[in-house]
Amino acid sequence: MSKVLIAPSMLAADFGNLQRDIEMVNNSEADWFHIDVMDGHFVPNISYGMPVIQAIKKHATKPLDVHLMIEKPERYIEEFARVGADIITVHHESTVHLHRTLTQIEDAGCKAGVVLNLTTPVSVLEDILPKCYMVLLMSINPGFGGQTFEDMTYNRVKKLRKMANDQGLNTRIEIDGGVTDKNAKALVDAGADVLVAGSYIFKSENQTETTKYLKSIANS
Ligand code: DX5
Ligand code: ZN
Repeated sequence: MSKVLIAPSMLAADFGNLQRDIEMVNNSEADWFHIDVMDGHFVPNISYGMPVIQAIKKHATKPLDVHLMIEKPERYIEEFARVGADIITVHHESTVHLHRTLTQIEDAGCKAGVVLNLTTPVSVLEDILPKCYMVLLMSINPGFGGQTFEDMTYNRVKKLRKMANDQGLNTRIEIDGGVTDKNAKALVDAGADVLVAGSYIFKSENQTETTKYLKSIANS
């Protein structure tokens, strides 16, 4: 299997020292910046939007993985591409014509992915999987950082990896929410190959070392 990637979630960064935290990610063994966009409708929280992403892009030397937790994301795809998104993931639950929205993301020059909430069966992706560069499985209810990982995720990852294998696909499977050194290895063994980590990295004493440690566990 290809290398397991680590994507620090900038939601847990110190916004007063954003450039410092961006440099930390640049200089660490992390692979992507995970960027959480929340609209206060699809999820109960509001995070940040285009100007902040543009500011991150200005300093980031690694790809921006933009996770849209917004209703009708199709309204804003081109704008997110314009401010620097490299990968855009949209929730299956947030857009009626998912196939069209994924095409829109591709046409905007980005890699397209789908996110599933905890209780959306992975089977809904059976037909659309060949079009997904990545599937993000939420391992918490989206909206906030610092929540506890839900164990039901392991089985969901296994099912999704089997579905991809059965179709001869190499789809990336990303896990988001409550990822730590305690669950990383089991997630990878189940079939995940991108791990998002917010609090685990940014609330730690030595963020660079913590990132390195998580990456080594994930790739062990
Ligand atoms: C929550 C976001 C996550 C969040 C993860 O809705 O999608 O990316 O930042 O934070 P932790 O790793 O602290 O659970
Ligand atoms: Zn996220």
